[in-house]
Amino acid sequence: MSYEVLARRWRPQTFDDVVGQSHVTVTLANALRSERLSHAILLAGPRGVGKTSIARILARSLNCDEGPTEKPCGRCSPCVEIANSTSLDVQEIDAASHTGVDNVRELRDSIRYAAAPGKHRIFIIDEVHMLSQAAFNALLKTLEEPPPRSLFIFATTDPQKIPVTVLSRVQRFDLKRLGGSELLSRLRQIVASEAIEIPESVLRAIIREVDGSLRDALTLLDRLVSGFGSSISEEAAGAVLDLVDRRILLDVLDPVLERDPANALSALRRALEKGVAPTRLAADLLEEVRNHVVACIVKDPGELVQLAEEEVAEVRERARKHDVETFQRLFRVLLSRTQELGFAPRPAHALEMAVVRLATLPSSESLSALMTRLEALENGGAPGPGGGGSTRGEGSGTRPRPRGTGGAPGQRAGSPPRREVPRARAPASTPPPRRDLDQEARLRNEAKSHPLVREIIDVLDAEICEIRTHSTLPPAPALDEDPR
Ligand SMILES: Nc1ncnc2c1ncn2[C@@H]1O[C@H](COP(=O)(O)OP(=O)(O)OP(=O)(O)O)[C@@H](O)[C@H]1O
Ligand SMILES: [Mg+2]
Ligand SMILES: [Zn+2]
Repeated sequence: MSYEVLARRWRPQTFDDVVGQSHVTVTLANALRSERLSHAILLAGPRGVGKTSIARILARSLNCDEGPTEKPCGRCSPCVEIANSTSLDVQEIDAASHTGVDNVRELRDSIRYAAAPGKHRIFIIDEVHMLSQAAFNALLKTLEEPPPRSLFIFATTDPQKIPVTVLSRVQRFDLKRLGGSELLSRLRQIVASEAIEIPESVLRAIIREVDGSLRDALTLLDRLVSGFGSSISEEAAGAVLDLVDRRILLDVLDPVLERDPANALSALRRALEKGVAPTRLAADLLEEVRNHVVACIVKDPGELVQLAEEEVAEVRERARKHDVETFQRLFRVLLSRTQELGFAPRPAHALEMAVVRLATLPSSESLSALMTRLEALENGGAPGPGGGGSTRGEGSGTRPRPRGTGGAPGQRAGSPPRREVPRARAPASTPPPRRDLDQEARLRNEAKSHPLVREIIDVLDAEICEIRTHSTLPPAPALDEDPR
């Protein structure tokens, strides 16, 4: 019994059949119509996005009995032979296994044999970047002055590796990764025609996995079909494809948002016990947090977020309860704490600590509230009349405000007990008296243990990525610098 894999069965046969890539297919169809096709074409792009398919369609367009045409018939013998890779006029060469100069010399010799009457001699060289330098050099002359009615079509996933001497002799087309909605509508079309029953959530999960490659998506779908036949459940798909169920992620995220580290930790433990790798879990958590930010700020996030409509609504609801900034901070902190997960002796423990940190982050209002309180202290040790918020405009007019201090009202209720703290900087009118060194040291120690200073350190720790990013800003004056 021979089974033709979905990726082969669904190879596009005409330019109209190619998903996405219209910037390439429309240009090629126009060139065919106006008979201005270049004699050497380079199709560059990530894996599984249609390079080989487009090369074959182009070959058929030229050699179809009805051609040159932008719509090859698909029935004549040249069309059928090209599809089966048996055409004598169209030669497909895998450069990965024919890298040497001898292979190119053979090719150069064979190009002299004329094609069948009215047809073109076409060479499709896949993974062309794998050719050796000598092989590329041997090609140059032929590319410069190709025999009449010949066409070279190069395909590559790595165009940087092609010498500029070759690049300057070809017309280059860059294929793009396919977008989420392009992939989804093609997968829907395929499962409907193949009578495969599969929940849309699984199709979306597949799309999240494949980084814009339709071939990879079809290969994953094939794995499911060969395992479960034509009726595939969410659970079965999750087990086979090693997909991380979104519910697992939300079980971790929800307690994080509730500032409940114990529950976040046990949800994480359950996920790890299911065998999900910590790095994978971290990446999926990051994506989940990122989806919350995107769904919040983009009106129609269809292309950006691989979630069904009701899931987007649920994400928005959660994001509304907690504001976008909270999710942005969660993302920054999680990213900075998980970047080195792969190097940790026990990555699971490192991820646990990252999640605990997320669940104990100071609230996003803290920073502005702290600034208000700092200003109040600076102005004489107590918040000014009318609440902490009113001091924003009063004591700070002449001072540049640090980044990230939003306009949230000050939190008087959260102010620390009134206590002497060293002044960061005295008002210009009343310079502080000179202190002796012992007194300085005592004050510095006192400052370090002051609850307000501790809170600032906590908040700044959460913002550490921001600080690294903005480290090019001019340094703030040191605390113990003599203001005079
Ligand atoms: N743009 C597309 N439109 C329709 N089907 C596609 C497209 N891209 C990929 N496919 C599907 O994936 C299969 C493989 O595509 P193709 O061989 O053209 O990719 P490729 O870009 O040459 O990949 P590679 O870099 O791995 O050689 C096709 O047979 C088809 O089923
Ligand atoms: Mg290919
Ligand atoms: Zn034909």
